[in-house]
Amino acid sequence: MSNSLLSLRPLGNTGLLVTPLCLGAAPLGDMPETFQYGTPEEQALETLRTAFESPINFIDTAASYGFGESERRIGKAIQANGGLPAGYVLATKADRDFTTGDFSGEQIKRSVEASLKHLGLDRLQYVYIHDPEHTTFENVVGSGGPLEVLQKFQAEGVIDHIGISGGPIDLLIRYVETGAFSAVETHNRYTLLNRSADPLLDVASRMGVAVINAAPYGSGILAKGPEAYARYAYSEASPIVLERARSFAKVCQEFNVPLAAAALQFSLRDPRITSTVVGMSKPERVLQTVELANYPIAPELWPALEAFGYDTEDPETNRFE
Ligand SMILES: NC(=O)c1ccc[n+]([C@@H]2O[C@H](COP(=O)([O-])OP(=O)(O)OC[C@H]3O[C@@H](n4cnc5c(N)ncnc54)[C@H](OP(=O)(O)O)[C@@H]3O)[C@@H](O)[C@H]2O)c1
Repeated sequence: MSNSLLSLRPLGNTGLLVTPLCLGAAPLGDMPETFQYGTPEEQALETLRTAFESPINFIDTAASYGFGESERRIGKAIQANGGLPAGYVLATKADRDFTTGDFSGEQIKRSVEASLKHLGLDRLQYVYIHDPEHTTFENVVGSGGPLEVLQKFQAEGVIDHIGISGGPIDLLIRYVETGAFSAVETHNRYTLLNRSADPLLDVASRMGVAVINAAPYGSGILAKGPEAYARYAYSEASPIVLERARSFAKVCQEFNVPLAAAALQFSLRDPRITSTVVGMSKPERVLQTVELANYPIAPELWPALEAFGYDTEDPETNRFE
């Protein structure tokens, strides 16, 4: 990558180098309940093939996306490619049991074993504990709990690095402060429309923990526009969010900037953020995203957008599962 906006950066203290753009593979798992549309397998595989050949070297998935379908499709793409492309970094997430709610260490072990099988790999470079808001902090860090299980996998060489990924910001700060995680992934909480993750970004960057900022379009409204996609973070957008999104779109038009470029670069330009995870379900999105990341934006656009304000409250989105 030639542009400094897109050059490789260290992923915390892991020794891994990642691009500031990361392919979010949730929509590739065919999740119509979450995104309101499905993704056929061939389209997902073509998107992955395109991503493997692109300047992006980072992909984000989870055991639970499409109940394993995202990982299974990534596994097929890896196999067809003869392995992960050189220098590529694949991150996944270990999940609770969605039927029983079981978030025990045993369940996390089963989740990691399923990820290895679905991805067709014998080693995972990066595993987050996913959505820890669905259990207690004490369970996650306690004896025999999810963290200890992942650390055991790490000692055995099955997992290289461990992170934490979820919703509520105060909870994520508490996990970051344990010092047990090299990266924290937040979603829908640091966008043009919502900045509730701001304190997390401060704490993590102070501690040298990589911040991975997912869903810079708030699940789509800031890419497709408020008329085409009137939702924020997988739920109907509130009137104030819709009004702000319309105002943002109008100002962006005055500056001749796509709303998506402003939304993406809002995240990319923040020095506290290591990588921004963009959900994509179509092959053409890969190049479009690189172009949006490089789109020239006059500095005057940023204060013009600020003038409309933004939310600092948690969007209460525990629904992305
Ligand atoms: N708890 C967690 O750990 C957590 C939670 C949420 C998200 N994540 C991660 O973050 C990723 C991103 O989140 P997200 O997908 O929910 O939200 P997002 O990145 O804010 O938005 C994705 C949506 O934007 C659309 N889009 C992307 N580029 C576009 C373009 N150039 N033009 C028009 N539309 C465009 C996509 O549409 P198309 O489908 O048409 O491409 C998709 O519907 C997920 O895939 C996942 O990997 C993690």
